[in-house]
Parts: sequence; C-alpha cells; structure tokens
Amino acid sequence: MPNAGDSKPPETGFRTLFSTPDAEALAAAGQLIRDGALVAFPTETVYGLGADASNATAVARIFAAKGRPHFNPLIVHVQDRHRAAQFGVFSEPATRLAARFWPGPLTIVVMRQPDTTIAELVSAGLPTLALRVPDHPVAQALLAAAGRPLAAPSANRSGHVSATSARHVADDLAGRVALILDGGATAHGLESTVVDATGDDLVLLRPGAISIADLEAASGRTVLRFDGDARRPHSPGQLESHYAPRAAIRLDATDVRDGEALLAFGAQLPATAGAVLNLSATGDLIEAAANLFAALRTLDATGAPTIAVMPIPNVGLGEAINDRLQRAAAPRA
Ligand code: TXA
Ligand code: MG
Repeated sequence: MPNAGDSKPPETGFRTLFSTPDAEALAAAGQLIRDGALVAFPTETVYGLGADASNATAVARIFAAKGRPHFNPLIVHVQDRHRAAQFGVFSEPATRLAARFWPGPLTIVVMRQPDTTIAELVSAGLPTLALRVPDHPVAQALLAAAGRPLAAPSANRSGHVSATSARHVADDLAGRVALILDGGATAHGLESTVVDATGDDLVLLRPGAISIADLEAASGRTVLRFDGDARRPHSPGQLESHYAPRAAIRLDATDVRDGEALLAFGAQLPATAGAVLNLSATGDLIEAAANLFAALRTLDATGAPTIAVMPIPNVGLGEAINDRLQRAAAPRA
C-alpha cells in the first residue's frame, strides 16, 4: 500500500503518496486512474504523469498539474500494438516500426481511428494520435491494473527538465499527483523518439533513443527530418499546427449577434436564439478544458458563420484555454 506521505499544498488538497509498486499499490493505482486521478509512473525513458486517456476531465488535470500555459498533444501509452491499433490507424511503415521497436522508446504518430474513445484533448484538437508501448514492468503493470490507455507527458512542471526518478517527480509535482509509483531511476533518461507516420513519408518530430538509421532500416522508408524539407510539419512543440474551426471566432463576447453560435462559460448567459454550448456552467476551468475541443467542433458543425466566446478567466488552465481560442480566432494564412 502507499506509504510515506508528502506535503499538502492548498491548491489541490490531496496528498501525494509514494509507493513501491507491489501488487496492492498497483491495484490502488489502477483504481485511481479509473477514478480520473493522476498517477506518476516510471517508463524506460523518463517518468510519465498518467491519466485515463479516455476521460477528458482526467486529461485536463494533467495540463493543470503541469502548469502549461498552452495545450500540446500527449502520448498515449498502451500495453501492446494490438491495442494501439484500436485507437490509431497504422500504415504499412507504421506497422513495421511498431513490430520492430515496441515495447520500446519509440512514439508513433498516426491518424486517430474514427469514433475512438481517446479524448480529443489528448490530441489537442489534431486529427492525429501519438502512441507508444512502454518497455518497463511497472508501466506495463499499471496499464494492466487500470485497464485503460494512459495519456502521459513527462512528469515535470512546464519548463522543467523531465523527471528520471520518483524523487524528481515529487520535487516538481507533490500535491498535484495522487500517487507516485517508485520504480527507481529510469534506464534511458532521454525521452522517446517521436516519428510521424501519418503520411507517405516518415518524419522525425523528436530525436531520441532510437536513431533515424534504425527507423529507416526497420521501415524500408526514408525518414525526413522535421527541420529539413518535411512536407507538412505536425508537432506543435515545433510549429504552429492546430485545430482551426471553419467559423470565425469572436472573443470576450458579452452579447450574441444575429446568426452567431455561443460558446458559453459560467452561469450568466447573454440572450440568444442560436446554438449554445457551455464549457462549464459552474465556471470550473478543468471541466472547461475537458470540453473545449469537442464544443468548438460541435458549434462549428452547426454552420454558424461566427462563434461568440464568452470571457474566460486567464488563470490556471484558463491561460491554456485562452491561448487556444486566440489561435483559433487569428486570421488564417
Ligand atoms: O519518453 C517519452 O516520450 C515520455 C514518456 C513518459 O513516455 N513522454 C514524453 O511526453 O516525453 P511529452 O508530452 O513530454 O512529449 C510528447 C511529445 C511532444 O513533443 C509532442 O508535441 C509530441 O510528443 N506529440 C504528441 N502527440 C502528437 C501528435 N498528435 N502529433 C505530433 N506530435 C505529437
Ligand atoms: Mg516533456
């Protein structure tokens, strides 16, 4: 069972527990994941900050815990490549890479399966999904205990280096994560290689433990470097690539004009005859983040020429929500 307790900062109100991953701790961790809580766990690369990838609210908690001022897409960890294929569409070279390198430190970006249960927030609105099968007994045991795919970025606060021990995770995230599974120091200490396999060409998005030469030998394809002349860069860490609604976006709206759809926030809504979706009637920013991409997409699909967006407080996750709305509102190239 979880043993040594840690601090209890006021912002979250729950304690972070450390645990050596015995059977009881793993069962508790699996339950926490199914309950929508965050569990940090070791992988062969760095520690991950895990949440149920099919639970948008749990995924929003990851962004809140990391304190990122923007949303970027997260890697989904699964037990094996057969489960990966339930969530993503694997081209022939993607299939070869998975067969050769999984389990292992390779993340493969593929198209999302239509109607996948993975929350849209995991992909930060992109039509793609980053998947990986970790090669670590504790990561595998957690996946088995939870019975859910795990969205997990590196377990560090935004702007800090990736954590390679449970102590590093606690230094950064104590009080922001329910449980840290202590699996000792990680083997690689370097994040996974990220390769985009959504198109005809493979594109290296992030160098890591597996080299371009290894990827080319296994896939039989040339691997383009992202900063070379890759056809269509995808990785939001490296460029502006984001979900843009067809409708125009009007920010900080306090009224609704003729024909506009309304993306609301909070309890006090302006009068309107048009479509309305409320990100959070109670003004909860985690709930708002969880609903953001699906709500934009649904309102866009109504055909309204403009989506009026009510003001959202620019604190905590509100910063990331506003960042994404501002990008959606910016004139397109
Ligand atoms: O080794 C690792 O990969 C660790 C362990 C925990 O698995 N995870 C990790 O996650 O480093 P994170 O969130 O710190 O980095 C994920 C990288 C980012 O560069 C992100 O932009 C990219 O993967 N990525 C995720 N989903 C993507 C997508 N759909 N399209 C393009 N890039 C994506
Ligand atoms: Mg990271």
